[in-house]
Amino acid sequence: MLFDKTIKFLFFPALLMLIFSPMVSTAGQYEISRFIPPETCGDCHADIYSQWENSMHSLAQKDSIYLKISEYLLKGLSDKDEIAESESCVKCHIPIGVVTGSPLKRSDDTSNVPAIAKKGIQCDYCHSATGADKMFNNGILLDPGYGEDDPGIKRGPFKDSESDFHETAYSKFHTGPEICGTCHNVKHVVFKTPLETTYDEWRKGPYNSSDPKKRITCQGCHMHQRPGIPATGSTERPANKGFAADDGPEREHIFTHYFVGGNTYIPGRFNDKTKPQMAIERLQHSASLSIDAEKIKNGEINIKITNTGAGHYLPTGLTNIRQMWLEISVKNSKGKILYSSGALDENGYLPEDARLFNTVFGDGKGKPVANIAKAREVLKDNRIPPLKSAVETFTLSKGTRKNLTVNARLLYRIASQKLLDTITGKEKEKLPVIIMAEIEEKI
Ligand code: HEC
Ligand code: HEC
Ligand code: HEC
Ligand code: HEC
Ligand code: HEC
Repeated sequence: MLFDKTIKFLFFPALLMLIFSPMVSTAGQYEISRFIPPETCGDCHADIYSQWENSMHSLAQKDSIYLKISEYLLKGLSDKDEIAESESCVKCHIPIGVVTGSPLKRSDDTSNVPAIAKKGIQCDYCHSATGADKMFNNGILLDPGYGEDDPGIKRGPFKDSESDFHETAYSKFHTGPEICGTCHNVKHVVFKTPLETTYDEWRKGPYNSSDPKKRITCQGCHMHQRPGIPATGSTERPANKGFAADDGPEREHIFTHYFVGGNTYIPGRFNDKTKPQMAIERLQHSASLSIDAEKIKNGEINIKITNTGAGHYLPTGLTNIRQMWLEISVKNSKGKILYSSGALDENGYLPEDARLFNTVFGDGKGKPVANIAKAREVLKDNRIPPLKSAVETFTLSKGTRKNLTVNARLLYRIASQKLLDTITGKEKEKLPVIIMAEIEEKI
């Protein structure tokens, strides 16, 4: 008996280690040679590779806005808690770098970052995932293979998949929103301030329905999109019949890998012709506008914005930097502008009183901060939850209430032009503005 117990005592922890060790991903744990470059996967998965190439996932570390903004916002910090946050960005933006040891922390010098790690959030990272140990700040657990001679198990949605190159396995984790949510929920590492909450917004919203017919996960919109088919909450999300691999069987649905959100600008800078247009199509099927004509008689213009298409708040993600705003103009019968709001000036800057839907962080004492490393509190969040509406009221001065033409536009760009110009100085780049929705009424 005693002998038996001793054996168990010795054996059990060893067994646990054996079972769990390949699944725990801590910083610097794996040899870089264990990860297979996306181009190799692309030899057989050509369509999926071309969709993923120049996606925001593939560009997560090459993205000039990320590089410039992170460098600018995070320089000159002295508080150790703020520095800790400034060093944590790599966990999601260069995930293979972190699990293989370089860079473990934010580094402006990326010359030592292995070439494969610079390829962002890639095939062999996502398809070596086994689960996540937390639903924020990238809690992905990995079980990678040993390079091209022994590629290990690639996990995905199929229960009957066969490949000569790698083993395959069905993975529930890949078919649910958690694989996205663990990175699309960003918390300040020390202050715990919610910096990005896309997954939580979805989780608490109507698309996370217990009725399977009404439930739409991240993949249900984002991995059904293809050119001409925006696949949002307000449009059809048809299946994409086809082939997962060049010599695989035909399947009822192949999840697409464009991973398009609102970013028209960055994929365009890498000469991608398809994704900027797809981002515009997505943004143009996100919201609707209506004008309450009755109220105008009292000099009040009430504009209702409804989030009809996004599975999370509108906008979502990095919304202290993104800009979504309402621009309105009121003209008389001669075409003279009597009132306007939200018009850009000659620099492309927004006026102070523009109606922005965004988040603003504070320093803990109520003072707004642009630097997320210093974000100790959320001071403002007036974004629009899924399928909900917001009403903005504009007041006309007296005597201007007849034969009016009211025009309202909901506009979006990925960052404040002022912020970008401050950062880039001389080499100014104009960020495109996308018209998400527009309405015009004569009163
Ligand atoms: C951000 C994570 C992520 C990245 C990066 C990624 N995939 Fe996927 N992939 C998924 C998910 C999630 C699914 C399954 C979606 C579902 O079932 O809901 C999937 C499905 C697949 C499938 C099954 C067929 C299909 O599309 O439905 C293949 C094959 C595949 N991916 C290959 C690749 C290759 C090759 C790359 C790189 C070019 C890649 N993936 C990059 C997350 C990713
Ligand atoms: C030599 C060709 C080849 C290469 C290289 C290759 N695959 Fe595959 N893979 C296939 C074939 C064939 C299938 C089966 C397709 C099917 O079942 O429809 C497959 C299936 C898959 C699946 C689906 C697994 C499931 O059970 O749902 C995933 C995920 C996947 N591959 C990922 C990858 C990744 C990641 C790489 C690169 C590290 C890669 N593949 C490299 C041929 C290849
Ligand atoms: C390893 C962390 C990670 C995982 C896992 C992940 N993402 Fe991302 N995702 C990112 C990062 C980081 C970016 C932003 C890159 C940038 O802008 O530089 C991003 C960008 C995106 C964008 C583009 C946003 C835009 O502004 O255009 C979409 C859409 C997206 N992800 C959807 C998904 C979906 C759907 C899943 C799950 C299938 C997923 N992501 C899984 C980290 C991740
Ligand atoms: C019902 C459809 C739908 C679902 C479900 C959905 N999205 Fe989206 N998503 C959209 C639309 C439409 C947009 C474009 C409008 C916007 O930027 O919010 C978008 C935009 C985004 C963006 C870019 C935001 C920006 O402006 O920078 C990211 C990142 C993203 N989604 C991630 C996710 C993740 C992660 C999930 C799951 C937790 C998810 N989405 C679920 C429809 C959806
Ligand atoms: C938990 C994962 C995670 C961490 C950690 C993280 N990010 Fe991100 N980051 C994302 C996701 C997801 C997006 C895409 C959201 C969207 O499109 O709005 C993103 C987008 C961005 C963008 C927008 C890029 C563009 O092209 O518009 C910038 C800038 C950025 N992150 C900076 C940072 C900085 C600086 C840090 C460290 C202080 C950081 N991120 C840490 C997940 C992360």
